[in-house]
Amino acid sequence: MSNDEFPTDRPAVVTCGLPYANGDLHIGHLRGYIGADAFNRALKTLGQQTAYVCGSDMHGTPVAVNAEQQGVDPAEFALDWHRQYEETFPQFNVEFDNYGHTHDETNTELTKEIVRTLDEEGHVYEKEIQVAYDPEADQYLPDRYVEGTCPYCGEKARGDECDEGCQRHLEPGEVENPVSSITGNPAEYRERAHKFFEVSAFEEYLTEFLDGLEGTSNARNQPRQWIEDGLQDWCITRDMDWGIDYPGDADDETGSDLVLYVWVDAPIEYISSTKQYTERVGADEYDWERVWTEEGDIVHVIGRDIIQHHTIFWPAMLEGAGYNAPRAVAATGFITINGKGLSTSRNRAIWANEYLEEGFHPDLLRYYLTTTGGLQQDVDFSWNAFQEKVNGELVGTVGNFWYRSLLFAYRNYEGTPEEAVSAEVRERIEGAIGDVRESVNEYDLRGIGRAATRLAQFGNEYIQRNEPWKLTDDDPERAAQVIRDCVQIAKAVAVLLEPITPDKSQRLWEQIGEDGDVADVHLEDALETPPRNFDEPGELFAKIEDDRVDELNEKLEERIAAATDGDVDDGTESDDTDADESDDMTDSESETETDDLEPLLEDRISFDDFQELDIRVGRIEAAEGIEGADDLARLEVDVGFETRQVVAGIKQLHDLSELPGQKCVLLVNMEPAELFGVESNGMILAAGDEADLLTTHGDAAVGEKVR
Ligand code: MF3
Ligand code: ZN
Repeated sequence: MSNDEFPTDRPAVVTCGLPYANGDLHIGHLRGYIGADAFNRALKTLGQQTAYVCGSDMHGTPVAVNAEQQGVDPAEFALDWHRQYEETFPQFNVEFDNYGHTHDETNTELTKEIVRTLDEEGHVYEKEIQVAYDPEADQYLPDRYVEGTCPYCGEKARGDECDEGCQRHLEPGEVENPVSSITGNPAEYRERAHKFFEVSAFEEYLTEFLDGLEGTSNARNQPRQWIEDGLQDWCITRDMDWGIDYPGDADDETGSDLVLYVWVDAPIEYISSTKQYTERVGADEYDWERVWTEEGDIVHVIGRDIIQHHTIFWPAMLEGAGYNAPRAVAATGFITINGKGLSTSRNRAIWANEYLEEGFHPDLLRYYLTTTGGLQQDVDFSWNAFQEKVNGELVGTVGNFWYRSLLFAYRNYEGTPEEAVSAEVRERIEGAIGDVRESVNEYDLRGIGRAATRLAQFGNEYIQRNEPWKLTDDDPERAAQVIRDCVQIAKAVAVLLEPITPDKSQRLWEQIGEDGDVADVHLEDALETPPRNFDEPGELFAKIEDDRVDELNEKLEERIAAATDGDVDDGTESDDTDADESDDMTDSESETETDDLEPLLEDRISFDDFQELDIRVGRIEAAEGIEGADDLARLEVDVGFETRQVVAGIKQLHDLSELPGQKCVLLVNMEPAELFGVESNGMILAAGDEADLLTTHGDAAVGEKVR
């Protein structure tokens, strides 16, 4: 596919990873759905034909296990959550063109059709494998019914995913030391025939596909590594009742017993949901077949834990069944809360409903989540940082500019002065439009927000510099010019910011007397003259006060403490992963009196001396305590070319189970040393009494040299 810039003359479809219909939505989910929604809105402002589709992920053990725990039927259980999600998303101005679910007829039929095609094309075969079985519960243990150790990184893992470690997909039988999550007993392995999709046959195709793939770099680089390590075929059936039946022939004894693995029918919902959209609006308005089978721009926004599914399995399925390849996979980082990993079981999360009940406008969170870090980066949420961002950028910059310029315009001119926009301001707005266009093409949501906020900041400086209040008497023409410019900037900011703050932008749009929806206008309309008259404006953003933040912090701490005290683990979490849990670092802890610091060294070294230190970015793959050593931990660190064993004195200072997946910085050409019989081949860099591990915050890749 030729990757010409957006807007293209093909239809686009934007999707976001389907939420498992198994528990409350939280800020970790919202980041994805809001991000994809903002991206879809931004594409529209570029004039791109596009649809935003999604649906609930109803099948699989994530749903079955939780339904079982509550003693309810999985179909009903999942439908309840599905209905709740349908209600919740619009409350965050997340507007899907279609939101279906994987258990509906469209998806059930399409899934069967696609699997049949893959089978007919010779991409599916049957094989006897060892599957985990619980003799006491007398049932097979697919996926989340079994827990054990990841064979790749040694972390605790679920049957089908290394959710706390390396994030790899695990095939049935791969997890080591399997334990039944139903009875807690060690699982047995039994031989069973299952269906396999021949992913390995797509190696060449996938390699090329990745070369042309847009989106975030992690969605290209990680799968390249997996391909290099060798692709495995993919077991696509499970011994379960809940799911879509394997669509075998009548004489297919194996198939008739099995359901499809949830990861087969879930992404197919992307297509089904698009199809339902077309069924509703008509193919003249939006043609699902064109986008999925002829020519279209398919953009998947996902969490970084499901890259493998979207860049290996899914494109192989699409190719095998004769569908289009995705144009982009944009994988977002995780959300941390006050510097620690989001954990639903520990109640360390900001829940969607909770946020709304606190009375905050959804656009504030939208702005925070899209502009705080790059798409790939983990983003920390704290009420303090939220307050700072809202008060600083939305209240202080955007809101302040909007209100002061419109109020001045209203009081002195009853609206937009009859002047032409100055060349300087026109150029500024054009520049901002260009920045947004570029950001969209780079899948950079933060860049969109930044372009808009910078324009508002320029507006504030422009007023300040020109002091129109002094000019109204002395130089009324000049005053009218300045205010005319400001009204245009206000309008432009609303248009540019609409993908991120749709409701606030709409209100500004109405304040300046515009008709219709700002969501329907194109970027260039930012330069169109606003209506001549408008009413007295109101302020669109309000400051979040300190005592409000104190209160919110207290509430959060209390409920985390309550969950931890009672050791509540209700198991209802959908994705209680991972987000790197670093040590808690409050402000007071991070401030060090200089008296306590080691004096700076007087002796200088040469640049060449520095060059001798080979310091690299690494990723911790595994961490365990060294027996007999109080403080030492044995780490396995991926340094790009190889995985190094390193011994570090951090056993007491870190929760070792939280380390895998974290990036670190280490000296790799340290002399080897043996500590407690374990060879150490590098030195992890850390600072402070708590061994705060040094890391990188941008896109520095594993193996990159620190210079
Ligand atoms: N429900 C899955 C998860 O939360 C995501 C499914 S995305 C899709 O991890 F591609 F399968 F649709
Ligand atoms: Zn692993």
